[in-house]
Amino acid sequence: AAQQREKQSTLNEVLEKACQAYQKHLKYSERAVTYFKGRGVSGQVAKQFGLGYAPEGWRSLASVFPNYEDPLLVESGLVILHEEEGQEVKRYDRFRDRVMFPIRNIKGEYIGFGGRVLGDDKPKYLNSPETPVFSKGRELYGLFEARAALREQGYALVTEGYMDVVALAQLGFPNAVATLGTACTAEHVQKLFRFTDVVVFSFDGDSAGRRAARKALDAALPLATDVRSVKFLFLPPEHDPDSFIRAHGKDAFARYVSEAVPLSRFLIDVARDGCDLHSAEGRAHMVSNAKPLWELMPEGALKQQLLAEIADLIQLSNRELMNVWYPSAKKIA
Ligand code: UTP
Ligand code: MN
Ligand code: MN
Ligand code: MN
Ligand code: MN
Repeated sequence: AAQQREKQSTLNEVLEKACQAYQKHLKYSERAVTYFKGRGVSGQVAKQFGLGYAPEGWRSLASVFPNYEDPLLVESGLVILHEEEGQEVKRYDRFRDRVMFPIRNIKGEYIGFGGRVLGDDKPKYLNSPETPVFSKGRELYGLFEARAALREQGYALVTEGYMDVVALAQLGFPNAVATLGTACTAEHVQKLFRFTDVVVFSFDGDSAGRRAARKALDAALPLATDVRSVKFLFLPPEHDPDSFIRAHGKDAFARYVSEAVPLSRFLIDVARDGCDLHSAEGRAHMVSNAKPLWELMPEGALKQQLLAEIADLIQLSNRELMNVWYPSAKKIA
């Protein structure tokens, strides 16, 4: 275990060294500086987040890591080793000609990177692979930078992207983090609840963002206790938090935050979706939609409130609703 920790901290140091190199390269790359400026990123926020640039060459990192064959470079995810039948074919930098977003864990240790193309090439973002120090399902971009603000603001904003976090921090919401190109997991939410009692999901307004919110609901339902709340903010379809706040400003975004939908209402909206409550069939359909969601909730006052609310919507008593959901329990009683 001690050996494992030592290995991890060595990887953290390798990644930190790369981060410093990428930051230095940014200073000398007019293209990359122009890219960030074109997106409205200030020098101050770029520095705060340690933004950088990975140059075009296949082995740019060799200038800071003279031993380019060092297996640590491959283990850190910075270098790709291509082998065929156990024989090395080639070795090269994973991140080339991309603007770089360093990812740190809650202790501030460097654990990985996201890199964006400057143009329209694919993939738009490249992330570090899973390594002994980096796991996408556990880590949140910007958490280290946001940690104090989470306590001060009293809530966390969870976004989809690197640029969302950077734009929000620059324009007055330093309490933003992002999932790393994956669905939001229970582990992500739990991590945030160590810093704040309110988590506000703020995904893109497009259909992918709505799907992400639907998935986040499943992850968050078991964790939303009577004192820890989860909310959902829905932006206009053409916007993500970055584009919205740059187009409409801080106050407009703050209004969306204040109008975020509580988990209880989103649960009802999801269950009711597509059901015509004016018809018996529609109400019956909602009952079956609501059951798996309601079951995810921890016992408590909120769960009881939801039971009453759902029962009311479908014109049954609480008891009748429980009997519909749990018919065998009824027989025993
Ligand atoms: P988006 O496509 O919404 O990207 O993906 P974005 O952050 O708004 O991109 P910009 O504004 O054009 O720079 C949201 C997030 O999903 C992950 C990244 O973390 C991205 O920030 N993603 C997206 C990837 O990992 N790979 C991709 O190719 C695209
Ligand atoms: Mn998107
Ligand atoms: Mn965007
Ligand atoms: Mn986006
Ligand atoms: Mn708009």
